[in-house]
Amino acid sequence: MKKLFIIANWKSHKTQDEASTWLQELRIRNQELSDKKIVVCPTFTLLSGMKAIIESSKLPIQLGAEDISSFDEGAYTGEVNGKQLMELCSYVIVGHSERRKSFGDTDEIVMHKIKKALESDLTPILCVSELSQLDLVKEAIGEKEIIVAFEPLAAIGSGEADSPEHAEDVAKKIKDTIKCSAVLYGGSVTAGNVHAFLAQENIDGVLVGNASLDAREFAAIIQHA
Ligand code: PGA
Repeated sequence: MKKLFIIANWKSHKTQDEASTWLQELRIRNQELSDKKIVVCPTFTLLSGMKAIIESSKLPIQLGAEDISSFDEGAYTGEVNGKQLMELCSYVIVGHSERRKSFGDTDEIVMHKIKKALESDLTPILCVSELSQLDLVKEAIGEKEIIVAFEPLAAIGSGEADSPEHAEDVAKKIKDTIKCSAVLYGGSVTAGNVHAFLAQENIDGVLVGNASLDAREFAAIIQHA
């Protein structure tokens, strides 16, 4: 059975206390998980503490980072590299539109970050809003596979999700363009619309921002997926 990815992108939200409360409040029934993979991507500072709680409480959650350095370890003040991340998580979001818009992540930088993630055995979740953003990455990954999240700019944080039919159309084109193990949809996903996206043939999961910040709301998304 194909596993559906339900991935939370917490962006620049939550303190350590808030993250640990979220983990305590998240109630997921085991039978809901047979066909789902739950991944939470918090700020770097939360990864270590969350890893400890997830392991000691045996929670069915995997962790991902929200970004990765395009360099190896070295004199790069403020950067977090792949070797450091691989101790803490298995996934990493790369090229989110907020990083492209506010932090200068160009297609070329994104391509280098994807390479660094793959070298560290992290699974990259490449965010794209247009198919042309796949071009450089496609050349760089060779035979390796990545996860691609289609996130139309107008749908992110707006409460106005894309239509499932349009997202399906783009998801199919993504699969025709690049080697990927899964295509996700992201942009104003809620418990109310998640199923309509996941019912599409080529959509294998969702990337959830705002609605993942509340543990009960995120649990409802998992339940309705
Ligand atoms: P949103 O964010 O669910 O709040 O629209 C999605 C994202 O930015 O990945």
